[in-house]
Amino acid sequence: MRIPLVAGNWKMNKTIGEALTFSSGLSAFLKEETRKPGWPEILIFPPFTALPALSGALAETEVKVGAQNLSWEKRGAFTGEISGSMLKDAGCEYVIAGHSERRHIFGETDEVVGRKVRAALDADLHPILCVGETFEQREAGETLAVCRTMTEMGLAPVTPDEVGSVVVAYEPVWAIGTGRDAKPDDAEEVIDSIRDTMARMFKDAAKDVRILYGGSVKSINIRGFMLKETIDGALIGGSSLDPEEFLRIVVEVQKTRPAPKSFGQGE
Ligand code: 13P
Repeated sequence: MRIPLVAGNWKMNKTIGEALTFSSGLSAFLKEETRKPGWPEILIFPPFTALPALSGALAETEVKVGAQNLSWEKRGAFTGEISGSMLKDAGCEYVIAGHSERRHIFGETDEVVGRKVRAALDADLHPILCVGETFEQREAGETLAVCRTMTEMGLAPVTPDEVGSVVVAYEPVWAIGTGRDAKPDDAEEVIDSIRDTMARMFKDAAKDVRILYGGSVKSINIRGFMLKETIDGALIGGSSLDPEEFLRIVVEVQKTRPAPKSFGQGE
């Protein structure tokens, strides 16, 4: 059973104070509403500095926090890096691995991303592996091949027993922060192909892996994606910074694809 998932990636935005203002906007609504059946799982990825404060502030709600990046190393002389166990200690349950901004601006390779996925699992965190093609790759007809390679290499260090705790996010690079969202049909085609790749790697266990869409998601376009059975939720950048817009997206997901059982009501 794949519970729909709505995740906000704040990237390099918000101070601790701004994160707390966001959470008080969210908390009152969520405390009541998300305890009713059918709500998606909700995640926020603040910058590292706001993690402990935000996770404390959201403790009374079912909203979980995660980190945007982690080191593949466990500890030691790695100036500027943060390990999975440190993230766990700061209240994280999830961590993003291989976001396109990490790949394209900071030079992370598929191999590095695979090591980060492994490090996340070793620290008992759910990795969200991001994959997606550039505009040039799409124009050249390489989308499915690019996403296949990113999926295979990102999940290479994962066993079939573990893969159910991984989430994959299909985020076409050309749709990120541009206002140019993918068409739901196109996202569906790529996501089906990613699931086929995982089925070759993990057999039946691939059925349990949630695959999200990300790239210019807003409250006015989320419904089209959620009407696709194969799309399990969204990873949201800009629209997750405003609590009201973020909640509108959460509500659209709840209406379009009610979860079989509210995540807030226990297993
Ligand atoms: P936008 O929603 O701002 O396009 O960003 C998407 C993204 O990169 C989420 O990780």
